[in-house]
Amino acid sequence: MEIKKVYAVYFSPTRGTKKYIEGIAGRISPDFEAIDLTKPKLREKVYIFKNTDLVIFGVPVYAGRVPSVPDGIFSRIYGNSTPAVFNVCYGNRDFDDALLEEKDLCEEKGFKGIAAASWIAPHTFSDKVAAGRPDGNDEAKMSEFAKKVKALLKKDLDSIKELSIRGNRPYKEVVPMPYHPSGNESCTRCGNCISVCPTSAVDINDPRKTDNDRCINCLACVKNCPSHSRNIYNPMFGIIIKGIEEKLTADRKEPEFFL
Ligand SMILES: Cc1cc2nc3c(=O)[nH]c(=O)nc-3n(C[C@H](O)[C@H](O)[C@H](O)COP(=O)(O)O)c2cc1C
Repeated sequence: MEIKKVYAVYFSPTRGTKKYIEGIAGRISPDFEAIDLTKPKLREKVYIFKNTDLVIFGVPVYAGRVPSVPDGIFSRIYGNSTPAVFNVCYGNRDFDDALLEEKDLCEEKGFKGIAAASWIAPHTFSDKVAAGRPDGNDEAKMSEFAKKVKALLKKDLDSIKELSIRGNRPYKEVVPMPYHPSGNESCTRCGNCISVCPTSAVDINDPRKTDNDRCINCLACVKNCPSHSRNIYNPMFGIIIKGIEEKLTADRKEPEFFL
């Protein structure tokens, strides 16, 4: 393969995925270009990649799947027999069918997977789960993975066999969480939540309100609220967090490579 440019293309509301994808891309080519598809405006643009590009894709895992944003994360991204590396980032439970789904979505659009990997970052719902990741071991794994990808780039694209990724089709059915963030009386209407929301779910005229049909519960608004006004106030959410912490803090999941 003759690769002239490396791109890091990701969706990352709370920036865990971004760390991994930029970390991997930077280890393959220090002058990589990042395309951050988190904000809705950036997903409106059409991106067409060449067969001399290498695209490192990354999404977080939501309920074992690729996050379902109203307009689709990769809907305006096109490849042209473009070599690609697929990645998912998850909160120490499992990635289920998300990596396979990401591969299917991108390969349908003209990309050819040469490698894939899963990575672990703090769980959106509790920083106690996978706290401090990526850590030194994860950084070493990123270096090992980047080295393996670089070795693959020496081969012809046609000689690379179809990736075999852990996951099932049909993909796991998602049962959406019925609780969503809102702002309380301490909201100063600063608008941070509006600017970080990846699905335009926060009401522009009244940022205390959320369009629950658009909200994907990424909690970017909660984590970026300077007055700590935004949260999921339903008591059931506290029970969900407790369950997640009980189940997911005992074991440490490790990155998996598919090459
Ligand atoms: C709605 C939702 C569903 C999630 N589902 C899973 C899951 O199925 N498995 C898992 O291990 N982590 C799950 N997580 C945790 C995220 O995958 C994890 O925190 C990821 O690092 C977030 O990526 P980001 O920081 O790039 O936004 C979920 C998070 C959210 C918000």
